[in-house]
Amino acid sequence: MKGIILAGGEGSRLYPITKCMSKQLLPIYDKPMIYYPLSVLMLSRINEVLIISDSKYIGFYKDLVGDGCHLGMKLEYKAQEQPRGLADAFILGEKFIGEDNVCLILGDNLFYGQNFISKLLKLSSMKKGAVIFGYYVSSPRDFGVVEFDQNNRVISLEEKPEYPKSNYVVPGLYFYDNSVIEKAKNLQPSPRGELEITDLNNAYLKENQLHIELLGRGFAWFDTGSYDGLMNASNFVQTMQKRTGLYISCPEEIAYRNGWIDRSKLAALGREYEKTDYGQYLLTVAGEKEERSRP
Ligand code: G1P
Repeated sequence: MKGIILAGGEGSRLYPITKCMSKQLLPIYDKPMIYYPLSVLMLSRINEVLIISDSKYIGFYKDLVGDGCHLGMKLEYKAQEQPRGLADAFILGEKFIGEDNVCLILGDNLFYGQNFISKLLKLSSMKKGAVIFGYYVSSPRDFGVVEFDQNNRVISLEEKPEYPKSNYVVPGLYFYDNSVIEKAKNLQPSPRGELEITDLNNAYLKENQLHIELLGRGFAWFDTGSYDGLMNASNFVQTMQKRTGLYISCPEEIAYRNGWIDRSKLAALGREYEKTDYGQYLLTVAGEKEERSRP
């Protein structure tokens, strides 16, 4: 399976912060935002990833993560000149996806919780259909809303409905089979002029091929595209990392634990940031500093 990170959009909900900067490069506590979705793909054992962004920012992403070989990955880039909607990712990414299945993650979404990795591993080896997640929130109106029955069968999906049929919303992480490319090409733009991911998911629903995985209580999902979202996610990461001493979404650590880079490579990466807690953490994971007992 291949992965796509959508890091486009104007970030206008964050003006003036994003007037001259790509939203997904902003910090969430101690890391650039894009490290969080990148880590989710890595935890899914997806090592070929396409990053889609506005052409004026692609150079920044290349400076940050390059071709991915330092993580044992293959990273590619594609410019999205117009924010034509989330489903546009599959049209832009057609050549990159090739014959494979694909996972799309939004560049401003942060996921954290127990048992997440086992869910991801199950989904990244799926053969057919599409899988979305469902997450309970207090104000579903701002998101795609999913209604499902007692057997977790999806009944309806609506994009930002005025009268939501449930409190379960669809976070920005989606697993699709290869037919997603054709389905995306057949979509019509919505009244706001975008190819909506919800319309794409509805195309799978019509074929009885849309499945839902619930993220239960205790799971943390943040959409960091607003002032409060940025701050809440940063505070959350800081709190968890300080409490446990374990980092959330540290791509270098995940690459090492996945066996994509060896200990000496990890230590070399740690030495690059030696003056920071981040660099010291990498050195500790690499065993170059005293290791405390670690789960
Ligand atoms: C998009 C999707 C929406 C989804 C949300 C998750 O909304 O259209 O269905 O629930 O991402 O972050 P947007 O952030 O583009 O308004």
